[in-house]
Amino acid sequence: MQTGVPLNETCNLQVWKLEISDKSKGFVELLQQLTVCDAISDEDFQKRFQELSSLGDDHVICVIEDTSRGKIVTTGSVFIEKKFIRNCRKVSHIEDVVVGCDSRGMQLGKKVLSFLTDHARFVGCYKVILDCSNENKAFYEKCGYKRKEIQMVKYFI
Ligand SMILES: CC(C)(COP(=O)(O)OP(=O)(O)OC[C@H]1O[C@@H](n2cnc3c(N)ncnc32)[C@H](O)[C@@H]1OP(=O)(O)O)[C@@H](O)C(=O)NCCC(=O)NCCS
Repeated sequence: MQTGVPLNETCNLQVWKLEISDKSKGFVELLQQLTVCDAISDEDFQKRFQELSSLGDDHVICVIEDTSRGKIVTTGSVFIEKKFIRNCRKVSHIEDVVVGCDSRGMQLGKKVLSFLTDHARFVGCYKVILDCSNENKAFYEKCGYKRKEIQMVKYFI
């Protein structure tokens, strides 16, 4: 079942919510272009997919498929954090944005960001947060984001 919103009916590049079948279309290999992501068994993929699907609009992974090649060429995710502060409002976090190296520079990153940001607004968040490297700062600025404060991290592995 395709649940996403086609961004451009006239081309082969549309944005959809992730489907189980996207694993065989290069979804994991695409994530490997972003960071460490080992091969995932079909069983583990299915388990994680179902876990995330059960969260509904609170955790959305979207993809852009180049349907002419049957390849996932872009992905990004957004999840919702429910707060007590600001009258129990909600904040969105955008993560794991990546465009395949052979598809960069075609506005796909911007499309996926726009989809994720619209989702955050639609579900009633008062802001969206994401982390990025210095190299990607200008990309996010072009998508309407601005720099605020710094990121801190502690790794457990
Ligand atoms: C960063 C990334 C998502 C950009 O995707 P993309 O599809 O190539 O970018 P777009 O074509 O949508 O670019 C949109 C605009 O941002 C600009 N832009 C893109 N990447 C940029 C960069 N690194 N620095 C400066 N500007 C950039 C483009 O020139 C374009 O400008 P325009 O609207 O004036 O034409 C992609 O390069 C990528 O996946 N990189 C590797 C993974 C990664 O670093 N992900 C981000 C994790 S925080």
